[in-house]
Amino acid sequence: MTTRKITVFDTTLRDGEQVPGAKLNAKQKLEIAFQLERLGVDVIEAGFPCSSPGDAQAVKMVAREVRKPIIAGLARAVQQDIDICWESVREAEQPRIHVVLGSSDIHVQKKLRMDRDKALELAVESVKYAKSLCPDVEYSTEDASRTDFEYLCRVIDEVIKVGATTINVPDTVGYATPDEFGDLILRLRENIPALDKVTLSVHCHNDLGLAVANSVAAIRNGAQQVECTVNGIGERAGNASMEEIVMTMRTRPTVFQAHTDINTKEIYRTSRMVSRLMNIPVQPNKAIVGANAFAHSSGIHQDGILKDRSTYEIMRPEDVGIKEHSMVLTARSGRAAVRHELKDLGFELEKGLFERVFQRFIDVADRKKEITAKDLSSIVEIEMSKVPETYTFLGMQFMSGDQTTPLSSVRLKKGDEILTDAAIGNGPVDATYRCIERLVGYQGKLMEYDIKAITTGKDALGEAMVRVEIEGRAYSGVGTSPDVIEASARAYLNAFNRFFAYTV
Ligand code: KIV
Ligand code: ZN
Repeated sequence: MTTRKITVFDTTLRDGEQVPGAKLNAKQKLEIAFQLERLGVDVIEAGFPCSSPGDAQAVKMVAREVRKPIIAGLARAVQQDIDICWESVREAEQPRIHVVLGSSDIHVQKKLRMDRDKALELAVESVKYAKSLCPDVEYSTEDASRTDFEYLCRVIDEVIKVGATTINVPDTVGYATPDEFGDLILRLRENIPALDKVTLSVHCHNDLGLAVANSVAAIRNGAQQVECTVNGIGERAGNASMEEIVMTMRTRPTVFQAHTDINTKEIYRTSRMVSRLMNIPVQPNKAIVGANAFAHSSGIHQDGILKDRSTYEIMRPEDVGIKEHSMVLTARSGRAAVRHELKDLGFELEKGLFERVFQRFIDVADRKKEITAKDLSSIVEIEMSKVPETYTFLGMQFMSGDQTTPLSSVRLKKGDEILTDAAIGNGPVDATYRCIERLVGYQGKLMEYDIKAITTGKDALGEAMVRVEIEGRAYSGVGTSPDVIEASARAYLNAFNRFFAYTV
C-alpha cells in the first residue's frame, strides 16, 4: 500500500524551550538537534532568534552543523525579526523562515490593537519580505481555531499569493476538539484551491489534553505537516507529543494510510535526552515513553503477556528503542569496559565528556557496589546536561535526627577558591539549601522538589530534580548520588549554576 508522507516538524527547541526553567545553552541545543536528526525529523524549529542574542547564536550553530533536516527559525511579522531570523538560519542546507501573526479577532484587536484589514496587510508584507530573503517561508495564522472562517481563508489565500510555501494552522490555546479541528482542515482545503500547491500544517496545544487527538484528526483530513515536541513539552499543558503521533500512525496504518520517516527506535533515547537536558521529568504513565508505558502489573495481564505478548501489547518496547540491559559494572571496571557499555547504550562521548562521566562513575561506584545500565545512563545524561559550573560541588556533611537541630556543612569550589560554610534548618535538605544559598550569595525559592530511586534496591542511586525561583526567574536542576541529601544538594547547586550561566 502506498501511503502519504507526513512531514514531522519538531519544535522542541522553540515552543518546548519556552517552558520556564527549561532554557538550553547553545551546546545543549546542538546536542538535541543532532539527536533529532538521528531520529529522522524533517524540520527542526531551532528557536526564536530575535528573543535574545544567545538564542540567535544557538540557532545559527544548529543551522551550520545539522545538515539533513530543514532548519527553521520563528519570527513575528516584523522586518527586524525576519532579518535576525534569516541571519540565524541562512547557513543551513535548507533554511526556513517561519512567520507568525495572530488571526483571531481576540488576537488582532486585543493583542495587535489593529483591525482585520491592517493585520492582513501586515501578513502579506511580512511574507513578501521573508520570501525576498528565503525561498522556504512558513506562515502561521496564530489562534486559527478561534478565527472567523472567511477571514482565515482570506489570509491564507493572500499569503500563498506572495510566496508562503507552508501554511500552518495552530490551535494556539488548545481550544479545539478533534471533530471540529479535522473539519476545519477539510473545509480549508475545500475552500482554498491554492492550498494544493503548498504544505498544509497543524500545530496543536494540549490545554484540554486533546493536542494529539486534534493533530491526528487533522492528518486524517489532509494535513501534510504536523508540528510537535518530544515528550509533548511546551507552553502551559504542552504541545502535541511527537512520539504519540508517530506511534499512533505506525500502529494503526489502515486508519491513516500515511507514514513518517521517523526511526522509532531512536524515540526513547531522544525522550530521555530532552527530559534530562531540559530538566523536565516524564510522567510515569506517559504514553510511549513513560516508565510504566510497557509495564504490566495485574496478574491477569501478566498471565496473558506470558502466553502471548499480543494479548495486552499493541507495540513492543523495542520498537521505540527500549532495551533491557543486564550489564553490571563495579568500581574495578576500567575505562574500556565503561566505554563499551556506553556505546551499547547509544552514547558515543567526546574525550572530555567521557572523562567527566568516568570520574563520576568511579565516585558513585566507590559507594555503591554495582552500577547498572540505568545508573550509568543517569550519570551520562546529568553530565551532558551540565552548564559551565560557576560552583563545583566538593562534598558535604550533615547531622539530623528527632532530638537535634539539623545542621549541614557544604564544600564548594569557585575557580581556585575552596568555600565552606554551615547552616541549620528545619530538616537536612532545608539546612543544606540554606548553606548553599550562603555560599553562592543568592536566595532561592524552591518551587518543585522531586526525588526518586533510579533502580530498585536499598542501595539504589537517588535522583533529585528541583525547580528554583532565583531573582524572579525559574531554573531547574538535577543531581544524583547514592545519598539522597547529597543528590538534593547537587540538584540545588545545578539550578544556581544555570542561573549564573544564563544571567549573571
Ligand atoms: O501556538 C502557536 O500558535 C505557535 C505559533 C508560533 C505557531 O506556537
Ligand atoms: Zn505553539
